[in-house]
Amino acid sequence: MSLPVIQNPAVVEEDPLDLMDEIESLKKEKDASILAHYYVDGEIQDIADFTGDSLKLARDATKVTTSTIVFAGVHFMGESAKIMNPEKRVLIPDLHAGCSLAESCPPDQLAAFQEQLRANGRDFHTVAYINTSAAVKSLVDWIVTSGNAREIIDRVPKEKEILFVPDQHLGRYLMEVTGRKMILWPGSCMVHEVFSIQDLLRAKRNNPGSVVMAHPECPQNILELTDVIGGTEKMRRHVMATETPTTFLVATEAAMIHPLQKAAPQHTYIPVPGIMASTGETCACNRCPHMSLNTLQKVRDCLRNGGPEIVWRDYYAKAREVLDRSLL
Ligand code: 13P
Ligand code: SF4
Repeated sequence: MSLPVIQNPAVVEEDPLDLMDEIESLKKEKDASILAHYYVDGEIQDIADFTGDSLKLARDATKVTTSTIVFAGVHFMGESAKIMNPEKRVLIPDLHAGCSLAESCPPDQLAAFQEQLRANGRDFHTVAYINTSAAVKSLVDWIVTSGNAREIIDRVPKEKEILFVPDQHLGRYLMEVTGRKMILWPGSCMVHEVFSIQDLLRAKRNNPGSVVMAHPECPQNILELTDVIGGTEKMRRHVMATETPTTFLVATEAAMIHPLQKAAPQHTYIPVPGIMASTGETCACNRCPHMSLNTLQKVRDCLRNGGPEIVWRDYYAKAREVLDRSLL
């Protein structure tokens, strides 16, 4: 007797062009706009109404005229959009799209550390990178992004110490460029920590005359080999301002190549590979596993279903004061 064949439910691959058409008509039907970070898949960036870095998107969210925002990015970005637009419905394609940096700074641990510093008589302001939860934002004095960090740090009174959370590498870099001493939280981004010095040196040797661009979330040893240090929007502006065709070695999330290519197609872009700590082999770990949870299907589904939704929480009100003061 033959056993019945058990078949796995087939994964239905939908045609991206059909999905794009469907998203376009759902946007009208549901009165929605799509915001997409430069780290999500290029095809999502292509159907978005606004694309950008965290700073630009936080500001764009306040200019949206539709009643619904779909935020293709990670959770803290959707949360910031909701905080700055309490009256709008904010949807995100996948509720599990988190951020290793944001997770490295739980609000209860931050509150306990601040309490300890105060008990020791330290007089400080807390400056948080935007890659933090809203609960953390509600505990801090200032929010910075990679795009506005220098100018915000200049606004912290000189007599105050600075507690910078959660990215130790960005904090170290900001100490260097602003000359301000900071107490650094020991967090880091899982994507920007894995770039290999050897691979970067090899890529430089194989591409004479190339220019290295790196995000300030990278550790110091990568930044020391970098020609242009900046967040994603700064990288985009830099390649647009460079007329001569150039080879850029890009040390940030790999999806960033898409907006660079679109903005300045005369150049060649080579993503710097990541490296697996356990084996030393290069890997595709320069793709953020959270950002890559965003797909065209999930954008369509969240428009169709009206969820997952970021719902308002009481502590968003305190976070809103800090975000408005810092970003607008
Ligand atoms: P940007 O602010 O440069 O867009 O960076 C966001 C981010 O998540 C970096 O890892
Ligand atoms: Fe967070 Fe890093 Fe992903 Fe950016 S790339 S969202 S910092 S985990």
